[in-house]
Amino acid sequence: MQIGLACDHAGFELKEELKAFLKTRGYEPMDMGTFDEESVDYPDFGIQVAEKVSQGVLKRGILICGTGIGMSIVANKFRGVRASLVNDLYSARLSREHTDSNVLVLGGRMIGKELAKEIVRTWLETPFEGGRHQRRLEKIEAIERRNFKL
Ligand code: RB5
Repeated sequence: MQIGLACDHAGFELKEELKAFLKTRGYEPMDMGTFDEESVDYPDFGIQVAEKVSQGVLKRGILICGTGIGMSIVANKFRGVRASLVNDLYSARLSREHTDSNVLVLGGRMIGKELAKEIVRTWLETPFEGGRHQRRLEKIEAIERRNFKL
């Protein structure tokens, strides 16, 4: 599976670590920058992944900034994107089971590399439960149809 990957300067180090990790697990990371630690604006990079997930070009994406907050705000502007800011394993699991998260957002300045890898693994391997959670997601889709979103 191809996974979109993007970060700002504060997420660069973790992005590189996760890119290598994804490859060892058989995934194909599509790295959309940034490519060094020079200061950049996170929306410019978050957009790259969120747009592709929104268009259905990619099924999943991972975004990293310092706290994860900025990237979450950006990604959730896009129709069909369910971005979850996750910094623990319980949220990683529930973001999939209950909310069918298709974009994982991490805070590069918030968590260590090993925890981040476990979060990514859990998020990638946990299926959506459907059922009552599907009904709730449909209500979110109704909001998207009502409000203008990209
Ligand atoms: C960059 O300094 C920082 O603001 C950014 O990485 C992120 O944490 C924003 O939410």
